[in-house]
Amino acid sequence: MAERSVLSIRDLAVQFRSEQGTVRALDGVSFDLRAGRTLGIVGESGCGKSVTARSILRLIDWPGRITGGQILLDPEEPQPTDLTALGPESRRMREVRGGRVGLIFQEPMTALSAHYTVGNQIIEAVLQHRDLSKADAKAQAIALLGEVGIPHPQRRIDAYPFELSGGLRQRVGIAMALAGDPDILIADEPTTALDVTTQAQILGLLQRLQREKGIALMLITHDMGVIAEMADEVAVMYLGRIVETAPVARLFAAPRHPYTRALLRAVPSILATPRQRLSTIGGAVPHPGLRPGGCSFHPRCAENLGERCRREVPAPVPLNEDGGASCFLAEDAA
Ligand SMILES: Nc1ncnc2c1ncn2[C@@H]1O[C@H](COP(=O)(O)OP(=O)(O)O)[C@@H](O)[C@H]1O
Ligand SMILES: [Mg+2]
Repeated sequence: MAERSVLSIRDLAVQFRSEQGTVRALDGVSFDLRAGRTLGIVGESGCGKSVTARSILRLIDWPGRITGGQILLDPEEPQPTDLTALGPESRRMREVRGGRVGLIFQEPMTALSAHYTVGNQIIEAVLQHRDLSKADAKAQAIALLGEVGIPHPQRRIDAYPFELSGGLRQRVGIAMALAGDPDILIADEPTTALDVTTQAQILGLLQRLQREKGIALMLITHDMGVIAEMADEVAVMYLGRIVETAPVARLFAAPRHPYTRALLRAVPSILATPRQRLSTIGGAVPHPGLRPGGCSFHPRCAENLGERCRREVPAPVPLNEDGGASCFLAEDAA
């Protein structure tokens, strides 16, 4: 049995307007985030991963706009909340942002101020979302710092962010995200700015927190290695669409979309001899304003069928447990 869905994205569309015209950054994105599970979202830079995360938190600023679809919190409850229907600064949305849904950024200083101690910032975040006295909020902040593996939290609570290493700063960023006791965490490339050893430690921490607290984790990365390590389910994004979803084992054993296969070929293999070049995907992600017709991936696709892929758009990925791929080859195989 699948776990209950806590967040359901349905046909989400986001556009950015500019003098050159309208860019469809997200063009019909659908997926579910399930209680206590980790959903990995993977794709090259510019595919719409961050726009998806920011849309859920209603942090898309002008000239960006949600133009269609729904973002349903508690979709299986009798009365789900559609976050797209709330004002970005409404009281309910402020409760959700940082409360039910925590956000971890690639660069922790996005969420932190350089001018206040980490303790004051976490206390502030705790007080925003929980009805506690100042003294209890401070105790809570110290407990959070301990929970994310910061040594001597009673002392470190008085440190300023610049006094901490990159790894410790990201731990503080995670403590901030946990301040409102969320059951959903969105982490947007949380380890991309860190060295390999620190990256492994932070991923280990996220995994432990996710399991202990039964959090639904949406983990955004461009790194298939991180996906293999962390994800239960995976959604592969290309040019503002989900092109494949799968349980992680199936994705690696039998990827169905040529884009997924290309991403997997680009992962360094421990079996590759030093002289073998790392395979890269031919061509670059086009600007979303120049989205190719038919299947958006067809100009870069090694397996493209010609005419059909140039003209017809393959059906979106089905939202069942086994997932699937938005590709004629996968449809024909099924
Ligand atoms: N502030 C913005 N203004 C205009 N276009 C934007 C803005 N933010 C994102 N976009 C468009 O959305 C696309 C997807 O961006 P993003 O979600 O940041 O990609 P990534 O998958 O690398 O996180 C970009 O290629 C860009 O065309
Ligand atoms: Mg991004």
